[in-house]
Amino acid sequence: MSAAAAPLVLAIETSCDETAVALVRGSTLLAGEVASQVALHQPFGGVVPEVASRSHLSKIKPLIDLVLAKTGVEPGRLDGVAATLGPGLLTALLVGVAAAKGLAIGLGRPFIGVNHLEGHLLSPFCNDESGPPVRSLGLIVSGGHTQLVLLERVGVYRIISRTMDDAAGEAFDKVAKLIGLPYPGGPEIDRLARQGDPDKYRLPRSMPGENNFQFSFSGLKTAVRYLLPQLSGDFRADLAASFQEAVVDVLVRKTVSAARAYGCDVVGVSGGVSCNSRLRTRMAEACADAGLTLRLARPDLTTDNAAMIGFVAIQRLQQGPVDDLAADADPSLALAGDE
Ligand code: KG4
Ligand code: ZN
Repeated sequence: MSAAAAPLVLAIETSCDETAVALVRGSTLLAGEVASQVALHQPFGGVVPEVASRSHLSKIKPLIDLVLAKTGVEPGRLDGVAATLGPGLLTALLVGVAAAKGLAIGLGRPFIGVNHLEGHLLSPFCNDESGPPVRSLGLIVSGGHTQLVLLERVGVYRIISRTMDDAAGEAFDKVAKLIGLPYPGGPEIDRLARQGDPDKYRLPRSMPGENNFQFSFSGLKTAVRYLLPQLSGDFRADLAASFQEAVVDVLVRKTVSAARAYGCDVVGVSGGVSCNSRLRTRMAEACADAGLTLRLARPDLTTDNAAMIGFVAIQRLQQGPVDDLAADADPSLALAGDE
């Protein structure tokens, strides 16, 4: 299908604390807007669901109008309207799903309900340079999830492993809080770690077995908590760098060995933590050494966004007619093929 004939989709993402709307044609992002709620939740040190859904309600219509105005696209030209169905916070999901369904019904176009994790998983292929999604090993690494997923082809996925406790992003946020950095801590640790020594403090690497692909980050967080009272002076940059190195070590090693174990030549890395500069560098080096092709999500598509939701919707429309109007928002929606 030529780029001009590729479906045009308006997509909405409201699964957590970002209200996001995007207009996507094929693998081209025509416009994408994200209204971050970070400042609203910062005083609480985490996301407050009630605050999130109220903010989504006030932002959703202006963002849809803005995206359409920026591109000059008439709503009648849309081939479908998509929204994240789950997983996520129910009251937050409902706002995006209701808005998308309303628009789809009004326009007489299909509503496409998308799994948020499928959005992250396919996001490394959501740009004009990467080519379409191919059989690959995906690492989804975000604030809520840390999973290795075998992408057989679009719509056919197998969960290889997940975290047994905290997600990697959650560990970044909790350790940042312990050392007095603001929420969300991931980007703060990334920045601070650039001035630190990653070998200064030896922190644990969980479940090192060659064929153990499960993750666990709560022990690492606890190790930082016990180390803290023993430190004095200006230790924060070294601690941030040492903690980050421990997380990155585990993520890189398990991803590369899982790619080998499952016979994948391509590795895709996505989710908020995949924005981490050290992870991007180390994963690129390790994949090059192992002869693997690395597809990293574009930095602006790593944290929650609507472009990745629109991209999944387009893949589905290209496979055949879609009608998800009867599908409900589901806070614990499983990725297709979840075991
Ligand atoms: O994908 P995302 O926006 O939301 C979920 O689906 O969870 O990921 C947010 C997470 C937060 O934990 C945030 O601290 C982390 O991604 N994050 C980072 C970086 N940027 C965002 N973690 C480490 N380094 C970064 N540069
Ligand atoms: Zn996410």
